[in-house]
Amino acid sequence: MQEKDIPEVINFHNNYLGERDFINERELLDRLESNRGIFLVAKDEDEKIVGIKLSFIENDVCLGRGVAVDKNFRRLGIGKELVSIFELELKKFPGVKKYVFASSTQEGVPFHIKLGYKPLILLQSENNVLLEGMDFNMFTVREKLFNKEYNVYQVYLESDKELDLNFLSKIKAQYPELEITYLFEKIL
Ligand SMILES: CC(C)(COP(=O)(O)OP(=O)(O)OC[C@H]1O[C@@H](n2cnc3c(N)ncnc32)[C@H](O)[C@@H]1OP(=O)(O)O)[C@@H](O)C(=O)NCCC(=O)NCCS
Repeated sequence: MQEKDIPEVINFHNNYLGERDFINERELLDRLESNRGIFLVAKDEDEKIVGIKLSFIENDVCLGRGVAVDKNFRRLGIGKELVSIFELELKKFPGVKKYVFASSTQEGVPFHIKLGYKPLILLQSENNVLLEGMDFNMFTVREKLFNKEYNVYQVYLESDKELDLNFLSKIKAQYPELEITYLFEKIL
């Protein structure tokens, strides 16, 4: 990404990933100038952006800030290529020890699993009865707690086998108030 790309990158981000406070012109320019992030864009032959992969570097952690590909250019390997270039660029930051990101999207979760990332599943609800009543047999329960800051009950699950995303989307359909987030972490 170059400085001139920033407005188009922000539009692209907001279109496919939704608006976020931390994705704004000042933040991206500041990070680009001070080398505190990895910002990649894929362009078509007319120089139009068709893919982005954004991340922020915060001390020894790299925070994934989203990957997205134009709807008309999906399943062509562009997302995969953006992530593999990102992984190479990340090696240029030897002080960074961990890469973390969250995803909940229907495309983002299987995409990252396919690329070799393994998620921790976070289930959240204000209603503990709902969480207690669930059968987590096919998972390893890593932690169960009440988060005082957000006033929610949380269960962290891990899957040793191939993750059954259908099972989790069925749970979501059954309990719409349940929040399911996939947390990805890679130790570098
Ligand atoms: C996720 C996203 C970036 C993937 O981009 P892409 O360029 O289509 O991905 P690729 O073509 O490189 O896919 C690589 C592999 O990931 C897997 N994959 C990609 N999209 C998938 C999907 N929707 N469902 C299941 N698997 C998927 C496939 O195994 C694919 O290989 P294949 O096409 O040979 O089967 C794109 O779907 C997107 O922008 N989605 C909307 C935004 C979003 O949810 N971003 C993730 C936020 S963390």
